[in-house]
Amino acid sequence: MSIIKACIFDLDGVIVDTAVYHYKAWKRLANELGFDLTVDENEKLKGVSRMRSLELMLQWGGITKTPEEQEALAAKKNAWYVEMISHMTPDEILPGAKEFVIACREAGLKTALGSASKNSGTILDKVGITGLFDAIIDGNKVSKPKPDPEVFLVAAEELNIAPADCVVFEDAIAGVEAAKNGGMKAVGIGSPEVLNEADLVVSGLDKMSLEKLYTL
Ligand code: BG6
Ligand code: MG
Repeated sequence: MSIIKACIFDLDGVIVDTAVYHYKAWKRLANELGFDLTVDENEKLKGVSRMRSLELMLQWGGITKTPEEQEALAAKKNAWYVEMISHMTPDEILPGAKEFVIACREAGLKTALGSASKNSGTILDKVGITGLFDAIIDGNKVSKPKPDPEVFLVAAEELNIAPADCVVFEDAIAGVEAAKNGGMKAVGIGSPEVLNEADLVVSGLDKMSLEKLYTL
């Protein structure tokens, strides 16, 4: 018998594919600054906070900016990103994501969102699934970046469930590490080679089931 009582979901790359919008906005910023951002470099930005992403980009571009300039650049990138996500529709929910969250709830499990993004409220609202989560913890509520477990521990606390009884769904290496650092189980969304610290890896939530969940 499993003791799993709650499922905590990352947002970008697990519930919706907003990574493409983040990439477009970062690439536009890089281009304005006179360099390019490759797809491989972009991979390293997954799960990473906005300010840390900018730091990495500037490093790759060999550019130095003052803290004030960095704030302004991050705000510029975010304005482009917010404009893009303002057009999102429920069609952009990743295959099987909504169905699996609903299945968890129907099975009596608690559900939470655990995301680094400060835009998660807008995205959930646009794709119409805000009501599917008992707790929503995002970059507005916590400050320590993954692999620090803060975001998931705060979610567990808000759900009133012990960390050991929670399963986290994550597409980022740092996110899987955060779950493990918090004493939780982790299901990786992506490739087993990349997410090798996860207890189970599936290519998407369309490949997840309650049966698989209860084997963890
Ligand atoms: C994470 C994304 O979920 O949120 C990162 O994977 C992003 O790419 C981070 O940088 C912060 O998002 P936002 O929306 O607050 O800039
Ligand atoms: Mg993610």
